[in-house]
Amino acid sequence: MFNIFTKQTKKKLGEEKTINFSKDGDIPKHIAIIMDGNGRWAQKRRLPRIAGHKEGMNNVKKITTYASKLGVKVLTLYAFSTENWKRPSNEVDFLMKLPVDFFGVFVPELVKENVKVNVMGYTEHLPKHTQKAVENAIKETKNNTGMILNFALNYGSRAEILTAVNDLLNEVKQGNFTEEVDEDMFSNYLMTASLGKELQDPDLLIRTSGEERISNFLLWQIAYSELYFTESYWPDFSLAHLEEAIGSYQKRQRRFGGLKIEGEASK
Ligand code: FPP
Repeated sequence: MFNIFTKQTKKKLGEEKTINFSKDGDIPKHIAIIMDGNGRWAQKRRLPRIAGHKEGMNNVKKITTYASKLGVKVLTLYAFSTENWKRPSNEVDFLMKLPVDFFGVFVPELVKENVKVNVMGYTEHLPKHTQKAVENAIKETKNNTGMILNFALNYGSRAEILTAVNDLLNEVKQGNFTEEVDEDMFSNYLMTASLGKELQDPDLLIRTSGEERISNFLLWQIAYSELYFTESYWPDFSLAHLEEAIGSYQKRQRRFGGLKIEGEASK
């Protein structure tokens, strides 16, 4: 299956591991990441939690650039959930300023890399300065045709599904709609709809920091995603870790509820 099969020994991953990762192998078209562990990364260094978020933001730049170079089509990053408003106000304020800092510096590089910014979530509830930074990044990168960098900002999957149901109900009330709702049609009412049918569901979902839960992220869309959990805190999640996650994905056999096709080379 692989043209070139690189075996790399990565000592930096904590323990020595052999990673079977191929740049010419099956690169997931859509990778989604729950970027967890910023706070613990900071605590471990006796730094305030916000220092972890700042380092996390810097890591977004590195991972975005590498994912784009690998040929990933969509990188969805869970940056702020509808539940994160419960955090102390200084932390929320800091998180709301991150897109301003991030896009303020990184947009020219995104343009150079042909990356297009997209944002999903209830952005109308974000502070004005955050909304402006996001709108500007979307505008500046709108003609780019490469990887879509899809930020989930004030996003929650249950809310997203309820919004879709209510939008559908309104269509029914207005008499615009009489057919039965099928999966494709329902997907068109979700916040990932603009990514198109081929790309709206992640192939690979990564969660950092050792926690193994989904935390209200893309509940509909990850029905058949491959899940990958790593102990690494998000600020420590390196290019080698990304290779390791993709390497793990490349070994898996996706059956989507069907059976392995006889004679098909196993991964
Ligand atoms: C979870 O870690 C992380 C977040 C809630 C914020 C994630 C945000 C970034 C990585 C920066 C995003 C950058 C841009 C450009 C918007 P946590 O704080 O829950 O960590 P903990 O579980 O160790 O406390």
